[in-house]
Amino acid sequence: MNRLERMRQQMLEEKIDAYVVIRPENGRYVSGFTGGEATLFITSERACLLTDFRYIEQAKAQAPDFEIIKTGLDHFATLSEIGQQALRVGFEGDFITFLSYGKLKDALPQAELLSLPDLVSHLRSVKDKSEIELIRQAVRIADDAFAEVLKTIEIGQTEQEIGLALEFSMRRAGASGGSFEFIIASGVRSAMPHGTASTKQIQLGEFLTMDFGAIYQGYCSDITRTVFLGEPGDKHSEVYETVLAAQRAGIKAVAPGRTGKEVDAVARKLIEEAGYGDYFGHGLGHSVGLAIHEGPNLNMREERVLEPGMVITVEPGIYIPDWGGVRIEDIVLVTENGCEVLTQAPKEFIILE
Ligand code: GLY
Ligand code: MN
Ligand code: MN
Repeated sequence: MNRLERMRQQMLEEKIDAYVVIRPENGRYVSGFTGGEATLFITSERACLLTDFRYIEQAKAQAPDFEIIKTGLDHFATLSEIGQQALRVGFEGDFITFLSYGKLKDALPQAELLSLPDLVSHLRSVKDKSEIELIRQAVRIADDAFAEVLKTIEIGQTEQEIGLALEFSMRRAGASGGSFEFIIASGVRSAMPHGTASTKQIQLGEFLTMDFGAIYQGYCSDITRTVFLGEPGDKHSEVYETVLAAQRAGIKAVAPGRTGKEVDAVARKLIEEAGYGDYFGHGLGHSVGLAIHEGPNLNMREERVLEPGMVITVEPGIYIPDWGGVRIEDIVLVTENGCEVLTQAPKEFIILE
């Protein structure tokens, strides 16, 4: 079954006549159109892609299974012309703005509107062969950039310079860009799990956390490595080795049939037993694909079950305010028996003199 057929099957299960897609990753997944600004309107008979003058040729080339319908800038005005038969219409309630929801209601006054945010994202959670190949490439590009940039890191460089070097290396290797705003955090800033690159210069005696990734043909990678600049103290080594042990245990726990909650618990327990439980305040991981953060997740609440073909990060961390922090992140592919670690960058404690 192709993606459109699988989507229609989901629509049957939800008993809806039509589904409206505006989230760009969902639109791309179902139609192949990469232009971003399109609205899909899908019924059991029609698959319409609504877009404006700027994207018509691209849409025709990339979405051959769709009727391409030219709109003005307001796609919903056109939707009212084609959607009057639909009585139960699903939409992405987690993405649509309040304003757009009002326009959707006005465009389809006869319809009952149902928020069904997971209809397409559920399909996206299990990757097919072609998607896995693209993610492998995105991961390889990030791995290679890490190896290249590691050789050029020098005391006195700014976090932003290091982020730029990583992005430059990845784009030269074929990435269309970074998969999110890179987190390059050194010294006490490494205690900020989302400390995006600043103008701070890196110094001896500090952790340097680099969390970055590539987009390759639409697919994201995500890797974190933490290195030490100069001579680490005992506590630096202890914290690093604790995170590494938790990360390895988390990877070992990834298998089909396990819930995200169960996998999270394995890594979290190790950090708690080492006495650092209060310093690991985020989930263990998230799925990756056309978006950098997708479901299912690995965290304390995730009841969804892992399946072969899911691609997910394992990224525990310990963050001690006013001292520093460590995170180590790999991407793994869930297989029939467990998982395959896609990330190849070394993760033993790297000390840069
Ligand atoms: N971009 C932060 C993370 O999920 O790794
Ligand atoms: Mn990351
Ligand atoms: Mn991540």
